[in-house]
Amino acid sequence: MSVELYERIWMWAAGALIAVFIGVISVTSALQAVQPPSHIETVDPTALASHAEFAEPAVKTNPDGSVVVSVVAEMFVFRPDPIEVPVGKPVTFRLTSGDVIHGFQVVGTNANAMAVPGYVSQFTVTFKTPGEHLIACNEYCGLAHHNMVGKIIVK
Ligand code: CUA
Repeated sequence: MSVELYERIWMWAAGALIAVFIGVISVTSALQAVQPPSHIETVDPTALASHAEFAEPAVKTNPDGSVVVSVVAEMFVFRPDPIEVPVGKPVTFRLTSGDVIHGFQVVGTNANAMAVPGYVSQFTVTFKTPGEHLIACNEYCGLAHHNMVGKIIVK
């Protein structure tokens, strides 16, 4: 079977692109801890005010020093704010929303998740250096979306 030169070039180029994409996914998942969401937990968004965890979202420290941060995102604030976490310890964020979809991006890190009403988004990060990070809502959620920011203090 003979394949035209240009056809061959495009076939090899398409194959090379696929190889590059698979390589990028492999490298980022192995080295940068970029992971697909794997956690499905539901919560009633209309009953957050009486929820055991999300009525008073807060930072809690486990006996082993690891930390769990419960966060409620609502137009146009994150609660609690600011969030104080320790440096060098695993910090598990548990996010939900009381109204619409919000984003929760810890600027300067790879911590980035959506706060979806009805669901708990959970991920764990370890902050390696002390300092302050801006939390930005990166999902358009209404007129004051651009003002929806919070702060993380790592110390
Ligand atoms: Cu909350 Cu945009």
